[in-house]
Amino acid sequence: MTDRILIVDFGSQVTQLIARRVREAGVYCEIAPCTRVDAAFVASFAPRAIILSGGPASVTEADTPRADPAIFAAGVPVLGICYGQQTMVEQLGGRVEAGHSREFGRATVEVTAPCALFDGVWAPGRRETVWMSHGDRVTALPAGFRAVAVSEGAPFAAIADDARRFYGLQFHPEVVHTPHGAALLRTFTHAVAGCGGDWTMAAFRSQAIVRIRERVGEGRVVCGLSGGVDSSVTAVLLHEAIGERLTCIFVDTGLLRHGEADEVVTLFRGHYNIPLVHVDASQRFLTALDGVDDPERKRKIIGATFIDVFDEEAHRAGGADFLAQGTLYPDVIESVSFHGGPSVTIKSHHNVGGLPERMKLALVEPLRELFKDEVRALGRELGMPDRLLRRHPFPGPGLAVRILGPVSRDKADLLRKADAIFLQEIDLAGLYDAIWQAFAVLLPVRTVGVMGDARTYDAVVALRAVTSTDGMTADSYPFDHSFLARVAARIVNEVRGLGRVVYDVTSKPPGTIEWE
Ligand code: XMP
Repeated sequence: MTDRILIVDFGSQVTQLIARRVREAGVYCEIAPCTRVDAAFVASFAPRAIILSGGPASVTEADTPRADPAIFAAGVPVLGICYGQQTMVEQLGGRVEAGHSREFGRATVEVTAPCALFDGVWAPGRRETVWMSHGDRVTALPAGFRAVAVSEGAPFAAIADDARRFYGLQFHPEVVHTPHGAALLRTFTHAVAGCGGDWTMAAFRSQAIVRIRERVGEGRVVCGLSGGVDSSVTAVLLHEAIGERLTCIFVDTGLLRHGEADEVVTLFRGHYNIPLVHVDASQRFLTALDGVDDPERKRKIIGATFIDVFDEEAHRAGGADFLAQGTLYPDVIESVSFHGGPSVTIKSHHNVGGLPERMKLALVEPLRELFKDEVRALGRELGMPDRLLRRHPFPGPGLAVRILGPVSRDKADLLRKADAIFLQEIDLAGLYDAIWQAFAVLLPVRTVGVMGDARTYDAVVALRAVTSTDGMTADSYPFDHSFLARVAARIVNEVRGLGRVVYDVTSKPPGTIEWE
């Protein structure tokens, strides 16, 4: 069985990064909220080691979360990070105090003694850069522990009990601002916990195929293809597992980018020979959207119409027992929220969430354990074209949320042309991979211009390009002015009906990436 590391989440903003680093070192891991990890959980998970994450609470207060005692009784190595270190110390008999010398950001630790966690990474006497973010600090150690690194604000910046293989770090090894942090985590998983580092995409591929076959049996599966990375990798993996019992449905909403429908059809039918139903439902979507200018209503209409079309097509294709979805790990992690309360809906994301209930289908979600970059690696493992795997994200409601005001076929055609020019220039400039997402937006205004000797009175497009790591925050991409001028000139000259081009420099927050 693959080695598994359990990461117990105490609500840190960066818990997912611990998982990223562990997996990059070739070790499978999962995150579970501290409130769910009890003795039974630990026993059934059977971890090779446990990592306790940081968190926003203070162990100096009575009602804050603790690690279940089963974690320390499991006989496996435990690494406590920040809050995780503090709760470990407090629970095992040491002391934590509300710190008067808070440390936030870059700090220096001095390595004072060797320990198995530092082996081959840090030597005694060295001063090393780390990233700290704590108010409380450990002031007395439990029996068996010794300090192995100190910082100005934390006399116990790193602690070790080599006999029990328990380690604590006051700093965050999972962030890039701790330059040797990934190496320390690797020492913990490999040298201390003895993991083999055999979690590779080749291994995942063969395990996933076995699991898909077990789950699906002789059943039939439908998969909605959007042309994006997640649904495409899901489809290719499923096809490898169950062959012709997979039917892919590609709904052309009329709100796709230039050439997108052809690309999907060519790739899946031509290259992979995967049974594909291609439905041109553009008229149906455009009719349903006729005259609608409210962004939330547009999203709801598209979501509902998609479900109707998909359901009809699945029946027409002979029905199915399972629906395949490209759900990823970040969507299924249940993280601890100490702030509680429902969050405000900024946008109703369109997905196929309503489908399984409506169609009474069970789900197959073979990518549920993967992060986005692992999905790309799996796609490469499956021999999928790089161009598809590198693709920028595209929202479910498509161009409808990039056409401000009511949507029409003419407007979608206009926008597609401008968008294609922008993306082509980005590609030519070699900037595609440096950008998270780039697209054009059609604004509901007209402006005066002059072409030749004639007055024009045409629409405006805004160009949007952002950098981001997860879509949650974003910065506008700092193009050269000459690049933007070239794109603007091409758009206005080549697309009749567009008279002006502007560039959106708003970051997220406060702006969102899409305009609606
Ligand atoms: P926002 O506009 O909220 O977008 O900053 C964040 C990311 O999500 C994408 N997005 C969507 N993706 N269905 C999707 O599958 C949607 O309804 C949807 N709305 C926005 C957006 O393109 C960006 O990558």
